[in-house]
Amino acid sequence: MHGFVQTKTAVEQSVRREGFYTSHKHFSRSSFFCSRAESAPAHTQVTPTIEPLFQNIALYIQRETHLKMKTHDNVIFITGGSTGIGLSIAKTFLHSQNTVIVCGRDEKKLARARQAHPDLHTLQCDVTDDGDNKRAFQKITSEHKGLNILINNAGIQYNYNLYDADVSPEKIQQEIDTNFSSLVKLTTMFLPTLMKQPEAAIVNVSSATGIVPKQNGAVYSATKAAVHSFSSVLRRQLAKSSVKVFELFPPVVDTEMTKGRGGDKVSPESVASQLIRSMKDDQYEIPVGRVRWLFLIHRISPALAAKIIQKQA
Ligand SMILES: NC(=O)c1ccc[n+]([C@@H]2O[C@H](COP(=O)([O-])OP(=O)(O)OC[C@H]3O[C@@H](n4cnc5c(N)ncnc54)[C@H](OP(=O)(O)O)[C@@H]3O)[C@@H](O)[C@H]2O)c1
Repeated sequence: MHGFVQTKTAVEQSVRREGFYTSHKHFSRSSFFCSRAESAPAHTQVTPTIEPLFQNIALYIQRETHLKMKTHDNVIFITGGSTGIGLSIAKTFLHSQNTVIVCGRDEKKLARARQAHPDLHTLQCDVTDDGDNKRAFQKITSEHKGLNILINNAGIQYNYNLYDADVSPEKIQQEIDTNFSSLVKLTTMFLPTLMKQPEAAIVNVSSATGIVPKQNGAVYSATKAAVHSFSSVLRRQLAKSSVKVFELFPPVVDTEMTKGRGGDKVSPESVASQLIRSMKDDQYEIPVGRVRWLFLIHRISPALAAKIIQKQA
């Protein structure tokens, strides 16, 4: 019984570390292992009928003893936090007693955010510029001791077919640099500082299109697939450190990015609330709203999921 609980606890820890999307694979593999009594070590052998009961007990113990991510008294840097999802995340964290610094390229947008939220710290920085990033890092770490959360949110999206006349190498490069290269560089730059903290986190704002790519967003979807891959590996690399790695998958959100697009959109505030709830619960992969169903459908029928995302795009 004790051995089994240990095994199930390890599985549950893996579920929490690996999150919603990837955990299913881990859990299935482990369930498979546990059900094969012949090849499993003696301490993992259980009668299949009582397995659900043991599983629930194990989950309960694991939940009660696990150290959850705190969502107050943090020092948080959010890239692209002057509008949209980034600003909503900033507001939500400000309300729960955190120090929040946001960056963006446009000083006017930053000034508007500052005016609406006087506690907010702002910083002009283009994340695709290595010099800007270095200056931002130095300013943040010298002025705000104890930085422990980095939220890589800045992103842009162009919708086009690759045969369209106005596709330029610059446009392609800008999308890759903003959505992916800068995220990797900033993570690498901030990691030594984060690792010194007793509790720290990196949140990468990803997209459902990273799992189910959309037709008119070939480059955008590819950058988000890269964010997903990077986040998964980073989480494993940091598994024994104090840094937790979260990945947020918003649905279509009512922001500047989706302006002019029809369909059902959720508010950026609802995305921010879901992020905080999931961080409190150490849920590392966070599909928001409809995305949860989309991922489930994608497991069963990738073709159907592709059709659904086409309708939403
Ligand atoms: N909206 C959606 O439906 C949706 C769905 C899934 C995922 N997402 C992701 O969510 C994130 C936020 O998107 P959003 O919808 O909130 O978009 P948004 O309203 O357009 O906000 C984007 C933010 O990023 C900043 N930004 C853009 N390029 C930057 C750069 N090079 N350096 C620094 N800051 C930069 C913008 O400020 P400046 O322009 O002043 O630089 C702005 O603050 C993105 O990663 C996006 O891919 C959005």
